Amino acid sequence: MSRLSGTGMTLAYDKRVIAEELSVEIPDGSFTVIIGPNACGKSTLLRALSRLLKPTAGTVLLDGADVHSLPTRTVAKTLGLLPQSSVAPDGISVAELVARGRYPHQGILRRWSTEDERVVTESMAATGVADLADRSVDELSGGQRQRVWIAMALAQQTPLLLLDEPTTFLDIAHQIEVLDLCAELHERQGRTLVAVLHDLNHAARYATHLIAMRGGKIAKAGKPGEVLTADLVEEVFGLPCRVIDDPETGTPLVIPRKRAAAPVTAEA
Ligand SMILES: Nc1ncnc2c1ncn2[C@@H]1O[C@H](COP(=O)(O)OP(=O)(O)OP(=O)(O)O)[C@@H](O)[C@H]1O
Ligand SMILES: [Mg+2]
Repeated sequence: MSRLSGTGMTLAYDKRVIAEELSVEIPDGSFTVIIGPNACGKSTLLRALSRLLKPTAGTVLLDGADVHSLPTRTVAKTLGLLPQSSVAPDGISVAELVARGRYPHQGILRRWSTEDERVVTESMAATGVADLADRSVDELSGGQRQRVWIAMALAQQTPLLLLDEPTTFLDIAHQIEVLDLCAELHERQGRTLVAVLHDLNHAARYATHLIAMRGGKIAKAGKPGEVLTADLVEEVFGLPCRVIDDPETGTPLVIPRKRAAAPVTAEA
């Protein structure tokens, strides 16, 4: 059994049902990537797994216990979530925001330790925001801000880390840097990562386990080479494409089909 799984979940906002009978298992030590079209329920699923959203039916198990029965601090020390969009408190500095990732580790007296200091410094260095430490988060660029949030999630040092579109707003080099960092966390430290990504080629390169969602359901899950076929992309995204081998890694590379030329119309 894996540390994190959801079984028979119904996920809904008030009366609006997003998913029914949804079951998902996150393999331990995997870098799981979730793909799927806008509004198919990817963020909703991450919210349920991280107990921000209580399923109206079914359960989420974290280390064998219903995640909703566990103390907040236990969950916060085990599982970190980087939501799709987060708003920082007004005027907070980069270092202060990253330091909030340490809250679950502090005792009742909230004493700040040298260990906390070290982890915050390391997390900022790993995401390339150390130079921004004293800047106010409000005045950063979209990409800089995104990396600060990732630093905060890293500072939480949880064995399970869920990242909702961690590469949005990032230029191509920073996207790869963040994905490399995730790969490193999972390879070197054995952490379990779950990320929602829109770039299918990045998903195929980095995922050890790929989950394709559509309309609140899992269309397919498994190894990227098995999941990411032209048929699957057409079924899930409605996009005609070819899938070839990535010349760099051998993983699937999705090439959208050329647009059919518009018919020539006679001029009046
Ligand atoms: N707080 C909310 N209240 C009501 N409906 C919501 C709420 N959040 C999301 N939804 C609805 O739930 C459905 C799934 O949304 P979700 O955010 O999970 O999609 P997603 O797959 O993450 O999409 P995207 O790729 O655009 O981020 C959508 O129809 C959305 O409108
Ligand atoms: Mg989303």
